[in-house]
Amino acid sequence: LRPLRIAIFGFGTVGSSVARIVAECKPEGLQLTHVFNRNVARKRADWAGPSVVWSEDADAVLASDADVIVELMGGLDPAGGFIRRALEAGKSVVTANKKLIAFHGVELERLAARHGGHLKYGAAVAGGIPVIPGVEQGLAGDRIEKIEGILNGTCNFILSKMDAGAEYAPVLAEAQAKGYAEADPTEDVGGFDARAKLAILMRLAMRVEVDPDEIVPRPITEVTAVDFSYARDLGCTIRQVARAQKTNGNVAATVGPTLIDLHSPMAWSRGTENMVILSGHYGGDVVFSGHGAGGHPTAVAVVSDLVALAHGSRRVEIPSQKAKVEAEFDVPHYIRF
Ligand code: HSE
Repeated sequence: LRPLRIAIFGFGTVGSSVARIVAECKPEGLQLTHVFNRNVARKRADWAGPSVVWSEDADAVLASDADVIVELMGGLDPAGGFIRRALEAGKSVVTANKKLIAFHGVELERLAARHGGHLKYGAAVAGGIPVIPGVEQGLAGDRIEKIEGILNGTCNFILSKMDAGAEYAPVLAEAQAKGYAEADPTEDVGGFDARAKLAILMRLAMRVEVDPDEIVPRPITEVTAVDFSYARDLGCTIRQVARAQKTNGNVAATVGPTLIDLHSPMAWSRGTENMVILSGHYGGDVVFSGHGAGGHPTAVAVVSDLVALAHGSRRVEIPSQKAKVEAEFDVPHYIRF
């Protein structure tokens, strides 16, 4: 079967990690054929494969024989325009663009369906944690009534380090240097990124379409060292938490710095960890946790979407090898997490 031909739009932290995973793991049925970016001379990476076309011409890549556009540029424009044109041409799109999906996801999904393509955005919420596939498949049989979560890795990185005594400004600079923060970090610290992710989850898990602008976020910039000390006195810490609840047709949603009891697993989250607790009417609470930001974790979600597209509804045999089970781990009888 012909492999799915992939064009990456945006070869930054996540785009280069996607190419790295495809080059190293060679997932069955995927072939990287194009990379679109400004100043490709600076971006070109020979390890990505000898047959990759590196281009500064988005029109040419959209007109190429690539089957899937992987949009990793972020923001509404020009990313939204590229996605619409790709879908109108019958291509499929995989994106990590939470802002675009939060504001225009319904319209884009309809466009994809009308032209026979697919739109997948597993990386748009909680980076490398499979919350979206979990909601769409594993929890489709429940009625989700509440969502609570740490949905922004940058804020968690900052607040967990401030909790340990660090100053805000240098930690934000570190999060930017490590590629966790958005191009404009106000998106992170102001709560706009988390509310976009919350709005996406509300639609998928609670089946409610909300205007993200109606969720008014509170910024974490209002948190200072003294707040952490007051929180400790109460047996709590502080994290940016996104919450939504649906009761009898009424919907409430908030995003902002929140007191968390030190016994809650959310209080243990460090660095870029995200955590999402989905409360179902029938199945009770389900907890997802893992890395919510950073090149490799986010790229895992992107590549997983691509693998799902490549496999489609085909029943594929998962390649595996027989192995012998050893009785002992390196450190027996001790579990850290
Ligand atoms: N800036 C985002 C975050 C990236 O820190 O969570 C992942 O969406």
